Amino acid sequence: AARTRDDLRCPIVVIMGHVDTGKTKLLDKIRKTNVQEGEAGGITQQIGATYFEKSTLVTQTARLNETEKFDLTLPGMLVIDTPGHESFTNLRSRGSSLCDVAILVVDLMHGLEQQTIESLHMLRNRGTPFVVALNKVDRCYSWKTCKDAPIREALKEQGDGTLQEFRSRASDAKLQLQEQGVNSNIYWEMGDDDWENSDFVPLVPTSAITGEGVQDILLLLCQIAQRKLWKQLMWCANLQATVLEVKAIDGLGMTVDVLVVNGYLREGDRAVFCTLDGPIVTEIRGLLTPPPSREMRIKSEYIHHKEVKGALGVKVIGNGLEKVMAGTSVLVVGPDDEVEDIKAEVMSDLTKLQDKLSTDKKGVMVQASTLGALEALLQFLREETKPPIPVSAIGIGTIHKRDVTKISIMNEKGCPEFATILAFDVPVEREAREQAEELNVRIFTADIIYHLFDQFTRFMEQLTE
Ligand code: GTP
Ligand code: MG
Ligand code: NA
Repeated sequence: AARTRDDLRCPIVVIMGHVDTGKTKLLDKIRKTNVQEGEAGGITQQIGATYFEKSTLVTQTARLNETEKFDLTLPGMLVIDTPGHESFTNLRSRGSSLCDVAILVVDLMHGLEQQTIESLHMLRNRGTPFVVALNKVDRCYSWKTCKDAPIREALKEQGDGTLQEFRSRASDAKLQLQEQGVNSNIYWEMGDDDWENSDFVPLVPTSAITGEGVQDILLLLCQIAQRKLWKQLMWCANLQATVLEVKAIDGLGMTVDVLVVNGYLREGDRAVFCTLDGPIVTEIRGLLTPPPSREMRIKSEYIHHKEVKGALGVKVIGNGLEKVMAGTSVLVVGPDDEVEDIKAEVMSDLTKLQDKLSTDKKGVMVQASTLGALEALLQFLREETKPPIPVSAIGIGTIHKRDVTKISIMNEKGCPEFATILAFDVPVEREAREQAEELNVRIFTADIIYHLFDQFTRFMEQLTE
């Protein structure tokens, strides 16, 4: 079937921003859930996904749309929640790489913070359009709650002092964005030229607790999707899918959370996944999703599907999924496909990384939690360190004894400084630690790239002293 403007897939929206700006709470407001209070320390530590049906979007924007009269035709919306804590740069990076449009959440009381700025640059670098939520507007002095109201209605109810504080804080945020090279304005004060300018960013005041402005941000996202992104949102049957997480679930065994961006995934499909040991081909035995408006990372009464259609987050059940790497793509073997071609395509991202390893086979081992993180780390070692730190081996996931044994040969090759593992955001097995002790291998661990690099540089300095 021809791709048309009348057959759009759900846009994928990612929520990004500094820790505790209210990203998860904003989603809780739309879902009518309380995921945030169940999080350890109130901190998000994984990528999440929530699917909203069209009917939810229509209902939750109804009041604002009485005046806007926007013809909402999207089939729904898939929203990806990301962590704001500094150590999860890799998850933010993955989130930003998967989405069509983003919400950058700013705490109106704090203005732009470090990970807000980091997120902003990720979005800018990829050319992803975004809106800024100026969240916690209810914290303005003597704010009068107008539960779930469109923001302009709510602002009409506020006293002069409250309005003054709101305006002053909003204009501070605007200035801070300007300092980052971003032109923005309160969205209803934007002129026609501003809307035409794809670099201009709309600001939407919101409260994730009392709900003011939530209608506005939802409707605005739908408008941007339909008016500006329709070309990239035209649904097509070719599968485009990425692994979000690999995790064991009680009673289901190892499962892979897959973001299906476009196309179909069906029970019985022969799916091809990327692992560090090579591609695996496995039959899809089950496809599960949480109910609409429920977070995928929260265990729930899963719905079983024979077939899912992008864009959607789905839990895939199958054999041999243990080593599948987060951040890699998923393909299925179609009737006209050569399985070897599909395997090569699935492995291509990893193969490209392996091509960058030290050619004389002398260098450290680098281990990271995901392909994206590994990519970031390799790039850092290549471009940001002087001289560049050579890498002879790479790995994803937990560090085992065999990894230690493998890199210990650097001691025999006359470069003991490279008998080193740089471990980014991954656990180290106890046996691996013991083996490292025995074979004179150093393991540096950190969950921030810069810290890893600092440790290794200090170590190199000690060596040369
Ligand atoms: P991370 O995922 O850990 O980066 O945080 P987050 O951005 O998801 O923020 P979260 O939803 O965990 O909210 C952080 C805190 O701010 C919680 O205590 C929320 O109750 C509070 N909060 C979030 N949004 C609002 C808001 O609009 N108004 C007020 N008053 N409090 C809010
Ligand atoms: Mg959160
Ligand atoms: Na939080």
